[in-house]
Amino acid sequence: MKFDILTLFPEMFDVFNHSIIKRAREKGIVELNVHDIRDYTTNKHKKVDDYPYGGGAGMVMQAEPIYNAVESIKEIYGYKPYTILMSPKGKKYNQDLCRELSNIKHIMLICGHYEGIDERIMPLVDLEISIGDYVLTGGEIAAMAIVDSVSRMVPGVLSTQESFENESFYEGLLEYPQYTRPEVFRGMKVPDVLLSGNHSKILEWRRYQSLKITYERRRDLIEKADLSPDDIKMLER
Ligand code: ADE
Repeated sequence: MKFDILTLFPEMFDVFNHSIIKRAREKGIVELNVHDIRDYTTNKHKKVDDYPYGGGAGMVMQAEPIYNAVESIKEIYGYKPYTILMSPKGKKYNQDLCRELSNIKHIMLICGHYEGIDERIMPLVDLEISIGDYVLTGGEIAAMAIVDSVSRMVPGVLSTQESFENESFYEGLLEYPQYTRPEVFRGMKVPDVLLSGNHSKILEWRRYQSLKITYERRRDLIEKADLSPDDIKMLER
């Protein structure tokens, strides 16, 4: 899985020099190339923005450095990677979209800043994505959420222990509660069933907890979930 990032703040992506994504990069399963949009300016002061036509507050990122950057990347690879613009106007990101993106071998993410980007970059863009209904100061944190969540879906990135197959959203449900040692912490005891060694009882308890927490907190997910007759019986308990 390969990512190319276009940003005005390349150092922000140093977060991927840690933990699981660092390990995946070292193993060569994930490749991350970060490009400074400022390096693709042609003016003396490396200016990347200007006042909006029609007036109004703030500055708008110019199209030219972004075109230059994309064309340079196109030259390196011989093709244009699937291009995503991070934007609060985009398609709302979720685990289904994450899974779809994890099937694309090479993704380029464009991070906007200031009050927006000149609309004329849109011919370069295959998809606009928003990570939620709130406004960030720039697209970087949104791009990081994409790189992180898509990378962990790539085979070999997570160890079997870290596997995503049992977790929140994998089956469209929220995850059951987890416990580790000690058995009693500040008077709070681990549920007996988890100490019972009865594997089928444990599975049943976890399934019930998942259904219950999803029903309580995210009725919208329950309505979309593919529930078995046993699940429905459990919910009615
Ligand atoms: N840029 C600013 N806010 C954003 C959001 N919510 N999602 C994606 N990109 C953004």
